[in-house]
Amino acid sequence: MNKNEIYRGIISDYSHDGMGILKINNFPIFIADVIEGEEVEVKIIKSKKNLAYGKLINLIKSSVERREVIEKSSGANLMHMSYNEQLKFKTRQVKNIMDKMLGRGLIEVLDTIGMEDPYHYRNKSVVPVQKKDGFLKMGYYRPRSHDVVDTNKCIIQFDEHNHLTNEIRKIISELNLSVYNEEKHEGAIRHMMFRTNTDKTEIMVAIIAKEKFAGLDKFVEKIKALDKRIKSIMLNINSRKTNVIFGEDTYTLYGQDYISDDLDGIKFNISLRSFYQVNPKQTKNLYQKAIDLADLKEEDNIIDAYCGIGTISLFAARKVNQVYGIEIVKAAVENAKENARSNGLKNVEFLLGKSEDKIKELINKDVEIDAVIIDPPRKGCEESFLQDLAKMKIKKVVYVSCNPASLARDMKIMQDLGYRASQVQPVDMFPQTPHVECVVLMTKTKRKP
Ligand SMILES: C[S@@+](CC[C@H](N)C(=O)[O-])C[C@H]1O[C@@H](n2cnc3c(N)ncnc32)[C@H](O)[C@@H]1O
Repeated sequence: MNKNEIYRGIISDYSHDGMGILKINNFPIFIADVIEGEEVEVKIIKSKKNLAYGKLINLIKSSVERREVIEKSSGANLMHMSYNEQLKFKTRQVKNIMDKMLGRGLIEVLDTIGMEDPYHYRNKSVVPVQKKDGFLKMGYYRPRSHDVVDTNKCIIQFDEHNHLTNEIRKIISELNLSVYNEEKHEGAIRHMMFRTNTDKTEIMVAIIAKEKFAGLDKFVEKIKALDKRIKSIMLNINSRKTNVIFGEDTYTLYGQDYISDDLDGIKFNISLRSFYQVNPKQTKNLYQKAIDLADLKEEDNIIDAYCGIGTISLFAARKVNQVYGIEIVKAAVENAKENARSNGLKNVEFLLGKSEDKIKELINKDVEIDAVIIDPPRKGCEESFLQDLAKMKIKKVVYVSCNPASLARDMKIMQDLGYRASQVQPVDMFPQTPHVECVVLMTKTKRKP
């Protein structure tokens, strides 16, 4: 297949990131913004040994699941699909991965739990700031590029964040503030971050900059005046030449260094660097599902590994005898301890460090554990951590994952260690994007298989 060649056919499948696949004599062409069943004409834009990328040039027959896209949003590769089609896509993605890694049809994948209103759900936005040819842009990075697409309205994030983005763009121009230039590694403002609590009464604004810059005080005053709900303005300094967003040093410029949220009657303080689920409406469903699967009893002692600010820990603490939370980020553990204290939950202990290290301390202390809830980052767990769970003869392991591929890999490891799972429940925490969260119960079998 060669560049600029034109092909015609019917989209027969999706890739893991939601691109449509058109097969020509079994050779796959990946195309963005198309739907299964659509008849298309595409132009090859890149050809590799085993696959090609094509651009839609003519939609010959469109799907009833097609939706109009007015303005693209960051990572929202599925915006052109009806929500129903998005959920079907996610269920199938998880099923394909489970079949491939664990054996065809051996794990039942339940229908993805969707949300009623799948728009403006994100409580946290990280917005890159860029100046090009004298034009200030704030929005999102064009896929596979460092070019910022200037955006006025993102349909995923809270509308408050759209308003703040648009106003702050004006302020940066008006005050002629220094903006970071990635190529030259000069200038100051790199990103803005907004995080808002669920009932939208508290907002944190963070400026991520290479260095402190002239006009910072005036900038803070102007941001403060934008919305009475802004309770915290933070500055994070990232002076490194890197794609990583945050640097190590954080300063409070205005108000407190956290915002508070209420999740199912529990109050959480969240600081800038702490992980907090981005879709509060679905978070409650996800945690409830995890807790239900763990089938917790009053006398149980449990571990909440990768616990962040202790959200799952505190949900569970209301039901069980003792919870041990493990988390690697210091600020998150400080939040977690304060959250347990302010909610009057005394049966929780938070351990600062890597789950794979702290689990060994618990083994050495000879603590009796009935169930473990795991919610690791995208890369999943260290194998030694899973081996230690098996060594501790933990009966129930509930695994919450934002990456079905690392989940399936870890499920395979657990299977080899004598654990069985029968079902995976996908939950849509990230509508309009190809991402999906899953929750699984793994139970210890009598003997190794
Ligand atoms: C997906 S988040 C889950 C947090 C929490 N359960 C929640 O729902 O808010 C994963 C968390 O694991 C933490 N983390 C990453 N690597 C870790 C490790 N090796 N040991 C412990 N925590 C880790 C991250 O800082 C983050 O807070």
